[in-house]
Amino acid sequence: MSTVDYGTRIPNNVGLGSDRRLQRALESWQPKFVEWWKTLGPVAFQDREVYLRTAISVEKEGWANFGYVLMPEYRWGVFLADPVPDRRIVFGDHLGEPAWQEVPGEHRAELRRLVVVQGDTEPASVEQQRQLCLSAPSLYDLRNLFQVNVEEGRHLWAMVYLLHRYFGRDGREEADELLERHSGDQDSPRILGAFNEPTPDWLSFFFFTYFTDRDGKFQLASLKESAFDPLARTCEFMLKEEAHHMFVGSTGIGRVVARTVELALEHDTDDVAPYGGVSAATLQRYLDLHFSVSLDLFGAETSTNAANYFAAGLKGRFHEAERDDDHRLLDATREVPALGEGRATSREVPALAALNETLRDDYVADCAKGVERWNRILAPLGAELRLPHVGFNRRVGAFAGQPIAPDGTVGDPTVHARRLEEEWLPTAADRAHVASLMVPVHEPGKMAGWIAPPGTGIHGQPVELAYVRP
Ligand SMILES: [Fe+2]
Ligand SMILES: [Fe+2]
Repeated sequence: MSTVDYGTRIPNNVGLGSDRRLQRALESWQPKFVEWWKTLGPVAFQDREVYLRTAISVEKEGWANFGYVLMPEYRWGVFLADPVPDRRIVFGDHLGEPAWQEVPGEHRAELRRLVVVQGDTEPASVEQQRQLCLSAPSLYDLRNLFQVNVEEGRHLWAMVYLLHRYFGRDGREEADELLERHSGDQDSPRILGAFNEPTPDWLSFFFFTYFTDRDGKFQLASLKESAFDPLARTCEFMLKEEAHHMFVGSTGIGRVVARTVELALEHDTDDVAPYGGVSAATLQRYLDLHFSVSLDLFGAETSTNAANYFAAGLKGRFHEAERDDDHRLLDATREVPALGEGRATSREVPALAALNETLRDDYVADCAKGVERWNRILAPLGAELRLPHVGFNRRVGAFAGQPIAPDGTVGDPTVHARRLEEEWLPTAADRAHVASLMVPVHEPGKMAGWIAPPGTGIHGQPVELAYVRP
């Protein structure tokens, strides 16, 4: 079961060949996807050989194959983690019942919505990142960008398979619309706000993969608990690919920080910008932006939808099965952040209503780990990066539009607006400086001056490998 069938037009481990109707439907969606990739995928290098990994099985070890491919010829396919025999539902009203192999009629609309919203983010990020290939700091980084991009394309395939296989005509229409909405499009934008902003430079890309792909990790992890077994199995395998995206962000920022430290020690100053580096203050502003925008993706602190999804068994919590409670939460309560009397405070609400917040908490804790790692690199400068207060720069939930500083204090709205622009979010000068650093480096093993080389290459290869062939 876990071996992927590559003998067909669409590689898969779901026995596509035995369902001719479904196979034909997906084969007619495939050219639309490739057309989308060529038009809205990376703006260059589509005719170059790139050292990429391709999934060949869903086993824990050795699931991927590494080799040179042309991106438009990448073997995008449908891979589900192996089924767990007699899998049971681990939370909600249906706790203990067998997991569903088909979509129950009463949950059809909500499940389709969950799949569509997840599916929409995947191609959106490819669209947001399409210009970056023109300014990669090295061939190693260029290859990592493309790896992330082709896998986001595959994640779209994962959701489109579910739509075609389990949601009938509505599902097929939704699958087409996933290619018709575009990031930043005036008339037909992507569903979630953060996915309509372009990723203008590599510093933004690294923060995006660290913070926004990590939102993806937590969404997938909660869908992996779903009572709807095909969705759970799809998400489980997607998480494997997702880990590399966050690795790119985490190590990418770590390498920028390392170079900042090097330049600061060499020139005996914190202001490394004149020497072609990114100062810690600029890094902090980019971090504050990307973290706050990603927090919004989890939704409001309390949500009836989230409560309903949980009770129905559609979407669980992060690591649901390992949690030490009754997994129904009917009587449980918890504190959620709130704004009261001019300061950030909290209030008690039913735990079921607060599941967005519970997922956001787990996300924030995960984000903090990388910041600690970066700070260890930054230590020689006596500087430190930190996650801003969860109320900072929010557009969703209790703190939306509130004048909350990165340290959590509530300020005067006019002063706040000015400090946002001049101190707390990337300034015009930051943007201009970062843009000026974005010069492409295409010599194997060479790095742009603002970033340190990686510790190791990809899949045991040397850093000097021509990861993208001339
Ligand atoms: Fe993804
Ligand atoms: Fe991702």
